[in-house]
Amino acid sequence: MTTAAPALQGALTSHLAQVFAQYPIEIAHGEGVWLYARDGRKILDFYGGHAVAGLGYGHPRWLAALERQARQMAFQTNALPMAVRERAAARLVRFAGLGLDTVFWINSGAEANENALKLAFKMTGRGKAVALEQGWHGRTAAAGAVTWGAIEKWYGFPRRPFDVAFAPRNDPAALEQHIDRDTAAVIVEPVQGVGGAYDIGKPMLQALRRRCDETGAILIFDEVQCGVGRTGAPFAANFYGVTPDILTAAKALGNGFPVSALMLSRRVAKQLKADDMGTTFGGGPMACAVAEAVIDTIESESLLANVRDVSAYIRAHCCVGPVTGFQGAGFLLGLKTTRPAREVQAALLEKNILTGTSGDPHVLRLLPAYILNESHVDLLCAALAQIPS
Ligand SMILES: Cc1ncc(COP(=O)(O)O)c(C=O)c1O
Repeated sequence: MTTAAPALQGALTSHLAQVFAQYPIEIAHGEGVWLYARDGRKILDFYGGHAVAGLGYGHPRWLAALERQARQMAFQTNALPMAVRERAAARLVRFAGLGLDTVFWINSGAEANENALKLAFKMTGRGKAVALEQGWHGRTAAAGAVTWGAIEKWYGFPRRPFDVAFAPRNDPAALEQHIDRDTAAVIVEPVQGVGGAYDIGKPMLQALRRRCDETGAILIFDEVQCGVGRTGAPFAANFYGVTPDILTAAKALGNGFPVSALMLSRRVAKQLKADDMGTTFGGGPMACAVAEAVIDTIESESLLANVRDVSAYIRAHCCVGPVTGFQGAGFLLGLKTTRPAREVQAALLEKNILTGTSGDPHVLRLLPAYILNESHVDLLCAALAQIPS
């Protein structure tokens, strides 16, 4: 999560916009789940570049795909057909197995959500979006408009581009009042990231699906953070057995190379017309080659099973020190803490373990790479046990 930041440590002459809070470590390189700092420290990474580094750092298959594609054709416009673009889309559709079989490649999470919302408004001709309290969808005009708290904290645009209603995240009965026949889109993170690695849960997701079907609203799953294997299933939609009309994915899809995707149901795809969406960099061959390699690696190295097993191991062993319980799913895990999570995070960093915080001041967020194993978790447990509760 980004907030108004203190000045960069030791970098008073920096030319970078001072908009990110900075951790007190400067990273030189990474390998697997390990970060190597400029001052010689070796840090165990449970933060994963904010949920991006699903395969960890420097994975050989990811590197090979990048190098191969860079040599063959680093970039080409969407106006020129390329096999790698088609192949990656087919791979993503097969991986998900959700029947969302049309893919639009784009660059970032916010841009994916921006396009998903636009399609819903165009398709329905309606004027309102519904989002959930504590949800986080990005910093562009539409994605920011459906992000909880954005208007009060950082939105910046003079007004929202459409009406927005926020529904409570844990009250299926309240949905009837919020989602109606004026609602074009309902957008939800099935497991909220910034909201505290908070599992929206199957009953609520089913209720959202039902209410969208009743009213004709388009259901959008924002799986930018919780998708692409992070729950231990291909997508949270698989994990909960609820399929949206549009699913957005990013972050771990590129393992650090910028790529995002919209996956569309047939009902949505059928209504697409030329020029409804567009992009220069989206669908670039390097991005597509990388997405294909990431999915291949998740499957061939059985990383979904690893996420499920190691996540269960964390829950079984890490309820120590200031930790009182868990929420979330797979490797989007919230550790509930007695003390403010920021204090626990700082204490862990002193012991060379990097973790994340969230919008909930008493939830420490773990977003590690899918290659994490039990020996890494043992190091986390031992460090937590030394922190007073
Ligand atoms: C759930 C969710 N949606 C959207 C975004 C925005 O993605 P990006 O920063 O790539 O625009 C994020 C980023 O953290 C996110 O966690």
